[in-house]
Amino acid sequence: MYTFQSLTSSHSLVPPIPQNPNLKLHFPITSNPSFALKFPVQVCVGIRIIMDRLKAPARLMIVSDLDHTMVDHHDTENLSLLRFNSLWEANYRHDSLLVFSTGRSPTLYKELRKEKPMLTPDITIMSVGTEITYGNSMVPDDGWVEVLNKKWDRNVVKEEASKFSELKLQAETEQRPHKVSFYVEKDKAQAVTKALSEVYEKHGLEVKIIYSGGMDLDILPQGAGKGQALAYLLKKFKTEGSSPVNTLVCGDSGNDAELFSIPEVYGVMVSNAQEELLQWHAENAKGNTRIIHATERCAAGIIQAIGHFKLGPNMPPRDIADFSDYKLENPNPGHEVVKFFLFYEKWRRAEVENSAVYLASLKADCCPSGTFVHPSGVEQSLPECINGLRSSYGDKQGKQFRVWVDGVLATQVGSDTWLVKFDKWELSGEERHATKTTAVISSKGSDVSYGFTWIRVHQTWYKGYEGKDDTTWHF
Ligand code: GLC
Ligand code: MG
Repeated sequence: MYTFQSLTSSHSLVPPIPQNPNLKLHFPITSNPSFALKFPVQVCVGIRIIMDRLKAPARLMIVSDLDHTMVDHHDTENLSLLRFNSLWEANYRHDSLLVFSTGRSPTLYKELRKEKPMLTPDITIMSVGTEITYGNSMVPDDGWVEVLNKKWDRNVVKEEASKFSELKLQAETEQRPHKVSFYVEKDKAQAVTKALSEVYEKHGLEVKIIYSGGMDLDILPQGAGKGQALAYLLKKFKTEGSSPVNTLVCGDSGNDAELFSIPEVYGVMVSNAQEELLQWHAENAKGNTRIIHATERCAAGIIQAIGHFKLGPNMPPRDIADFSDYKLENPNPGHEVVKFFLFYEKWRRAEVENSAVYLASLKADCCPSGTFVHPSGVEQSLPECINGLRSSYGDKQGKQFRVWVDGVLATQVGSDTWLVKFDKWELSGEERHATKTTAVISSKGSDVSYGFTWIRVHQTWYKGYEGKDDTTWHF
């Protein structure tokens, strides 16, 4: 994959990078922070959504590319992604920010979310840094749209590009207000990029042309791109006095290079990173100890980087075989939820011993009068539901069966009680089911290190992911 980039303006948001004329057409070193100079940063609704949830600066903000970075398309079991999910929900969700930054349009991004067990990010940057949305409901950042409108005329961009017979228009879904995308053969890409840049310059348009994957050619406003979008977000947080304590950017290919150019971020190039990103690094960021090339693939490389830079806990609960003799660094209600559903998966996959001791210990973690409202609406006794697990030991052994939780957020509602909300997902064979879950749990002793007691669990089907057979849905 090669990335070509036309550079047309003189200011730079990214740290000074050694000027190498050969590089100009190769890497997305963005150079037009016109938005930063001309547009005061306003608090947008989206940032409010994020800040209201966090209350304090994010402890860690992870900004990750998706294809071949967070998502490993060669990992059919999605294990590294599921390991990351467990780590994030147990240790980071409550006080940190997850940002996905993808080349995909909203349409293809949503398709990927249906295919892979992905978490819900706090912020989604799509279409190569041209669309920013916040929260689960994906509230768009209109301020960013205004920034990108400057010196951008989509019609001229498209019309001029259509005169190049080497360019084949990508699918309609991938044509976005600030992104016009084509396919072009590798050997023609550099010449086309150069010629196009000249044409646009004559029109007074400041565009950025990025060639990716040996086939994709994206034309964006000069101020767009993954790095510029991140710089824009960081500036917003700074204005609000809420800059993340640490930021980790994660990528695998040339159009992620911009992310690694943002000052003060840590960066991980996953082990499977493309040659052009490694080359960009060798030529521009070598001695930068804040950037590593992981020895692990995709999400496992991200976990590795969290450990390497000491950004916080880096032991995914999914990797812990037996919690009974594991001392948690930082017990919290989120961790309790992750732990419970991992046990549930391993029990049904027969990956823990078929021992009554386990169920007894689970029951000991339930209030004797605790209740469970099944998504069918039937109310049951929580300890009875744990008993009900006995007959399901190993029923998913050797089968495709995975369980994960998403968006686990706890609100303290009493001195020792939390209301925990999350989505619980189950992949069984080809089918995926999910529930919106609310749990009330309380700490066993004067502080959380004594563990938690489950008091009430209430589930309702997630629209579009209802289970057909209520009887096989335990929790
Ligand atoms: C994604 C997008 C495509 C784009 C490519 C490279 O595959 O769907 O439109 O050209 O990323 O950025
Ligand atoms: Mg990628």
